[in-house]
This record gives sequence, C-alpha cells and structure tokens, in this order.
Amino acid sequence: MNQINSKNISLTINKEDFKNINVEFRQNLADFLRELGFNGTHLGCEQGACGACNVLLDGKSIRSCLTLAVQASGKEVTTVEGLNSSEMKTVKDCFIKNNAMQCGFCSSGMLMTTYEIIKLNKKLSRAEIREMISGNYCRCTGYQAIVDAIEDSVNKLNLGSQNG
Ligand code: FES
Ligand code: FES
Repeated sequence: MNQINSKNISLTINKEDFKNINVEFRQNLADFLRELGFNGTHLGCEQGACGACNVLLDGKSIRSCLTLAVQASGKEVTTVEGLNSSEMKTVKDCFIKNNAMQCGFCSSGMLMTTYEIIKLNKKLSRAEIREMISGNYCRCTGYQAIVDAIEDSVNKLNLGSQNG
C-alpha cells in the first residue's frame, strides 16, 4: 500500500493486541473492523444517523462510520463480540427473551447503547430508556420489545439499588 496514503497502527480490539497494521488514512473504523473479521459492527446509513456501527473507543460509545481507523491508533476498541461481561450476558438473555431483535441489523448498536445504560447504574423510566436509545434506529421491532428488554435488564441487574 502507498505509504503516503497510509500508516501502520497498533491497537487493542476486544482485549487482543493488533500490531503494525497498515491502514489507509481515509478508511473508516467500521470497515477496518469488518475487514479484520469483526462483522458484528454493521454499516447502515454511513453518515452518523442510525447507530448500527456503534463501538466503544476507550470505553466510550462512538460511531465507527464517522471515525477513521487511524484515530483508533493506540486505543482500546470494543465491538459487540467483546461485550462478554456477566452483566452483558444478562442483557443479551433479556433481548432474546423479549424478542428484541428481528433481522438483528440494529442489535449490535442497541447492545452498545445498552452497555452505556447499564454503566449509569440507575433505574430508568421507559421514557428515559427511549431517550437513551433515540440515536439507534430499528426498522423492524417498533422499539417496544427493545425497551422491554432494556427495562428487564435494568431490573434483573438491580441497577441503582445502592443509590437509594
Ligand atoms: S452506519 Fe454509522 S451511524 Fe449509521
Ligand atoms: S431488528 Fe431489524 S433493524 Fe432492528
């Protein structure tokens, strides 16, 4: 690859080290991750609107379609394949139990947003849950089942119980 248009980057993806990977400056992080086999990261709108491409960059949810792969150099990326904490296993079970996915295209982005909801460690109303997922589009479910699944997760994980 032309070294003028590319550079080598090293980063961690789902706690695994990737070193000296040559990447074009113009390549977005979503395509980069998918080329490495992390196909759970989906590309929907490719303009920052739908949330299907959400991943965590140093623990914070970002749109990987609007982020260049080179911006992840030296950082820690978590994709949906890396959401394996016991809390997120509970969340995934709740999504399945509540039929919160149909085609599944939005699900990885929804799970990323739910990760951020869980991190808040507080009980949320259904209206607050709807607001939190307002950056994630779903074309299939009508959102009701997704809100059910997230509410179920918050209850099962007993979030906010130490905060009064
Ligand atoms: S593909 Fe990135 S926000 Fe839609
Ligand atoms: S389940 Fe199909 S887009 Fe959400």
